[in-house]
Amino acid sequence: MLRFNMRAWILLLLFAGTFYSEDISGCEQQPCQNGGVCESHSGGFQCLCSQQSRNGRLYGGANCTVPLSGCDENQCENGGICSPLLVNDQQTYTCICPPGYTGPKCQISTTFSFESQGYMYMDTKQLDPETPLNVTFSFRTENPTGTLFQRRVDDLLLTIELIDGHLCLLNLRDQGTSTLVQELPQYLSNNKWHTVEASLGGVVSLIRLLCSERSCTRDYSVEIQLMDQAAHLPEPGALRQSLFVGAIGGKWVSGRAQDGADHPPAFLGCFRDVFVDSHLVLPAEVPKDSNIQVNIIAGCSDKDKCEDNPCQNRGRCVSQGWRRYVCKCHRPYEGHNCTEEYITARFGNKDLESYAMFSIDNDPGDSVVITMFIRTRQSSGLLLILANTTSQYLRLWLVEGRVKVQVNNYENLVGRNTVSNGHFQLLTVKLEGTAATLFQSAQIQNSIAIRRVQIHPGDLVYVGGLPDLRASASFGGYFKGCIQDLRINSKRLQFYPVSTPVESYNLEKLEAVAQGCSSDNTCAANPCLNGGECYSMWDDFICSCPSNTAGKRCEEVKWCELSPCPATAICQPLSQGFECKYPFLKDLLLQHYCLKIHVPLQARISIP
Ligand SMILES: *[C@@H]1O[C@H](CO)[C@@H](O)[C@H](O)[C@H]1NC(C)=O
Ligand SMILES: *[C@@H]1O[C@H](CO)[C@@H](O)[C@H](O)[C@H]1NC(C)=O
Ligand SMILES: *[C@@H]1O[C@H](CO)[C@@H](O)[C@H](O)[C@H]1NC(C)=O
Ligand SMILES: *[C@@H]1O[C@H](CO)[C@@H](O)[C@H](O)[C@H]1NC(C)=O
Repeated sequence: MLRFNMRAWILLLLFAGTFYSEDISGCEQQPCQNGGVCESHSGGFQCLCSQQSRNGRLYGGANCTVPLSGCDENQCENGGICSPLLVNDQQTYTCICPPGYTGPKCQISTTFSFESQGYMYMDTKQLDPETPLNVTFSFRTENPTGTLFQRRVDDLLLTIELIDGHLCLLNLRDQGTSTLVQELPQYLSNNKWHTVEASLGGVVSLIRLLCSERSCTRDYSVEIQLMDQAAHLPEPGALRQSLFVGAIGGKWVSGRAQDGADHPPAFLGCFRDVFVDSHLVLPAEVPKDSNIQVNIIAGCSDKDKCEDNPCQNRGRCVSQGWRRYVCKCHRPYEGHNCTEEYITARFGNKDLESYAMFSIDNDPGDSVVITMFIRTRQSSGLLLILANTTSQYLRLWLVEGRVKVQVNNYENLVGRNTVSNGHFQLLTVKLEGTAATLFQSAQIQNSIAIRRVQIHPGDLVYVGGLPDLRASASFGGYFKGCIQDLRINSKRLQFYPVSTPVESYNLEKLEAVAQGCSSDNTCAANPCLNGGECYSMWDDFICSCPSNTAGKRCEEVKWCELSPCPATAICQPLSQGFECKYPFLKDLLLQHYCLKIHVPLQARISIP
């Protein structure tokens, strides 16, 4: 009996098992329409509606029969994906935002960038120093170095830094010790977005690469709360609890040497989707002089800065990674954008005896290139001398309008083209081991073999002349003209320094040299004769001569044009006068009847 009963119970339980779902769930009636999947629940069923649209529609409601229209006018901005919903029988939607955007309609950009040293500061005083700070962020840069985050907890500075393109976590102590805690193996300075999670503080700090570029997804439907920003940044000494985001230079870092050399370099690049303990961090509207947010730019521009043609004066722009460039300037231009020009020095202004002297403070090595722009109309004069205490081992001067180079008092090199034409031209003297070469405006002039010369610290460079008048005279006297952008190798010899910092030799003396390249007032001495009109040019003049005079100073009078001879005679010009010739007389008679008139050169006559 007992045995039978047990069997009956088992059967009953089995029957109960089979009938349970039929009786209580409604899934047998296949209530879920439009591809919905039915799930039984205690006391009923639930439809999981298909996420695949049918005839361009998604369906919702208890039985997936209600067409969803919440996204009929796509509500999401910035490429967000709209997902229609039925909430309490109301049509609505939610947006799935692409990286870099947030908000109910993805209308808020979370991207910001640093194009120069800057940061965003957050006060973390209210946080327990023992609790780790959860940080997730995406970044993008081409620069292999830069500091992205710093959290200070008392005398410990936790730093997330790019070192050689690898993201590193470092512990810096105020005493100056620095410990590398972790280094990610991937190279991340490749101008792609990378998403990183970090835990800063607490027992263990660590960083983890979540994803790179497009493989990053994030649930943006969660309610976003903004991180409260600090009102102002306290003095560095009072910074016991803080968090910095961005291109943090050495300024707020007290854990490292303050000499500037060891400071972490600034991070230049972009951030997006920065979350600190699930709070979104965004640049805020702050007053211009605010120190909690410095040099932050909204968005992340990919543009090559060279497209703006920042280099002036035909300088060549070279892109230098993320939003940076350098200008390769043409001489004599200098500066970040090639806007500054080396200041020209005028020698021999009003025929003054002028010169400049520089001292050598380095060893330029075995290969020496001396270059300068010169402008002159004089065919002689001293350009440059390099001398040590015993010898003037390099001399440059003008002879008959040509450049002459003399090495070691002995080897001579003369240019083929004249330079004294009143135009600027680049002179280059190359001393390479045992060869000396002269170039004028990049054209090779001549080359000779020389005995090696060696420039030593303490040697002197004289430009335009020597202190001694007679010594200068043996090189055709003092130089008259202009010199600009003089260099020995890459080091400048500046008569008047430009504001761009450049490596320069020391100017020891500047005697009667003037700034600029002004001309002498060449018309002041009335050089034009016979009523000619004087026009001044740079260190020269032009005479506009009356019709019957000629020559540079109108000194040649065309006497015959004044018809001075009798009608039967022919007027013939002489070098300083004229003669009347009678062609029909015999040679013998000619002597007697010929009238010769010589006019002194300086005589001025008025010409009708
Ligand atoms: C869903 O289907 C069930 C069973 O087929 C039915 O009883 C119920 O009324 C339907 N609900 C709606 C809202 O259509
Ligand atoms: C930080 O993240 C870890 C792991 O994701 C979590 O366990 C912890 O609660 C988070 N801490 C805070 C303060 O959000
Ligand atoms: C160089 O040019 C850029 C754009 O043309 C400008 O923004 C920048 O201030 C300039 N820099 C200097 C040092 O003049
Ligand atoms: C001066 O230069 C010449 C030529 O290079 C060299 O022979 C001589 O030793 C140098 N004198 C001194 C004192 O350096």
